[in-house]
Amino acid sequence: MIRALAACAALTLTSASGTQACDNQQVHSKSLLQVHGPTDPAPRNHDDLVGLCVVQDDSCFDLQLDKRWHNASWSKDYEFPPDAVQLVVARHGEDLRWLDALPQLPAVVYNRGGADSLLPSPRENLRIVSEENHGREDEVFLHHIVENYDALPQVTVFLQGWPFGHCPGFLKAVRNTISAMLLPGQVAELQGAADASQGLAPLTGTFWQYNINAGRLGLASSLASKHFPLGREREALNYARVLYNETCTKILGGAACPGVEWTAEGAQWAVTRDRIWSTERSIYMDALSLGEGWEGKFRGLVLEALWPVMFGSAQWKPTKVDMIPSQAGQAFNRARSNDGFCASETSGSRKLLFSCQDRVEFCERQRKSGASTGKLFESERLGFKIHDASDFGPWRLEAKLQPILWGSATWWPRASPEAQSMRNVSFDPDIVELDGLLGLRRSDRTDLAAVQWNITESGSGYAFSRLDFRGQQQFLGCQEGLARLLPEPSSWQFIKLLDGWIQMRHTQAGRVLSMDDRSSEGRLYCREAAGLDSSQAAFVLQTLRK
Ligand SMILES: *[C@@H]1O[C@H](CO)[C@@H](O)[C@H](O)[C@H]1NC(C)=O
Ligand SMILES: *[C@@H]1O[C@H](CO)[C@@H](O)[C@H](O)[C@H]1NC(C)=O
Ligand SMILES: *[C@@H]1O[C@H](CO)[C@@H](O)[C@H](O)[C@H]1NC(C)=O
Ligand SMILES: *[C@@H]1O[C@H](CO)[C@@H](O)[C@H](O)[C@H]1NC(C)=O
Repeated sequence: MIRALAACAALTLTSASGTQACDNQQVHSKSLLQVHGPTDPAPRNHDDLVGLCVVQDDSCFDLQLDKRWHNASWSKDYEFPPDAVQLVVARHGEDLRWLDALPQLPAVVYNRGGADSLLPSPRENLRIVSEENHGREDEVFLHHIVENYDALPQVTVFLQGWPFGHCPGFLKAVRNTISAMLLPGQVAELQGAADASQGLAPLTGTFWQYNINAGRLGLASSLASKHFPLGREREALNYARVLYNETCTKILGGAACPGVEWTAEGAQWAVTRDRIWSTERSIYMDALSLGEGWEGKFRGLVLEALWPVMFGSAQWKPTKVDMIPSQAGQAFNRARSNDGFCASETSGSRKLLFSCQDRVEFCERQRKSGASTGKLFESERLGFKIHDASDFGPWRLEAKLQPILWGSATWWPRASPEAQSMRNVSFDPDIVELDGLLGLRRSDRTDLAAVQWNITESGSGYAFSRLDFRGQQQFLGCQEGLARLLPEPSSWQFIKLLDGWIQMRHTQAGRVLSMDDRSSEGRLYCREAAGLDSSQAAFVLQTLRK
């Protein structure tokens, strides 16, 4: 999950609508919604607003969410009956306070870790189920379906812990979608919920088309190409194809895998129970027992494309979209909503929207440079190990440094065909120290803890230091092309990538902190910037919580 990235945050990226070859399944809406609210929008008052600190387009700012439905003709005190609709949220550390802006909607949160201070306020129609941290959102959703198969509300909305990532305009999108599903009379007035009348609607504005025969399977293809030696791309794609087809067939309980599928980025769907019931409970159960698969995420990748099939619409494709095949990457096609669905309500932007909680170091740097960061960041930063300048010392921030692995969960060396023994060694995106050298943690060395850094200003850049077990200060530096812990300070310049991701340039050596080209063992190097591709040298600083 965006933690290390929501399903595909890192790869997370027109006019083919046409009529959907879709069943005539209609939502059977009983007249269950009797809405009594003020007809005139009341003036916005403080009680109606929930503030969120967010990052988008290289800036930190406050997003104000209005608790009142739509244009405020619906009061915030209204509640949907529990048999009408339920939000099902898979949490893995994310900031969930946005749920406070949707008090009308019954919700269940499967909480697999993260700060309690980021949970929504308690309320009667919200249940928080604490669980061990295993699996991804597909596991949570399958489990929820299996456990509640006979007691589903009319509409279920499956969501990631931070649903704004792929859907910056999430609040409006989810309200429109639910209205369209439960109040068919209103559909005509609603924008951007084109599929909702069919009882199945994605909560994203970005779509990818996969094609098995063409070997264009999006993230599955990218993953495979990262795990095979250079020069064997064809073999890698074939591996992805076979594994995808096999996983897909298993998920579908042995039924043939459709060769072409549209994926709604992020796996967030609103769906009626009739549609969930179009697949037998035993099929969901079997899919659940398959486990996460390759890289701990392969089933999730395949399911991301298969949810519509599971939900009774094998030929599903997005409507009201523009095709942008030129940006399809490893997929066959890409499409984007053309009616503003899921775009930010204030700026119209569709760029990924992050919580400040995941980008504290970036917002802090903005704040220091004098850029506006919104009011909320002032209180957000108090929860983190940020030490303002004082009589005892200069400004200092404590953080872990992590490489961005662009879509994969772990880093794999591209071993030579001969070195088969390396083929099943993977590396976590955590940086550890071994004999003064720095590198990614091998999957079999969970005993090594990620290095925590003190980051201080140094010249026009930053110094990274830590205390070793003897209490001696060591600094991140460069020596003979390798990143090392050294006794003398070094200064690092941050070169801006998007939304707080950085490249780090060693001021004195003029080299860039980087991974190798996957030919070696997950070490960190200091290399010439020329010739490096961005996937080798992108990092993010995760500020430590107090
Ligand atoms: C609010 O919603 C109602 C019903 O959906 C609509 O008739 C009205 O025009 C809307 N008002 C505004 C200000 O958008
Ligand atoms: C998937 O695998 C099945 C069984 O091996 C095969 O018959 C089918 O042609 C494959 N589908 C695609 C699209 O490659
Ligand atoms: C690779 O996997 C094989 C079989 O699962 C195992 O015997 C071997 O020890 C593994 N190699 C490494 C380096 O982990
Ligand atoms: C950071 O510096 C402070 C003050 O010198 C020290 O107490 C702390 O242990 C350091 N943290 C790390 C991770 O080295």
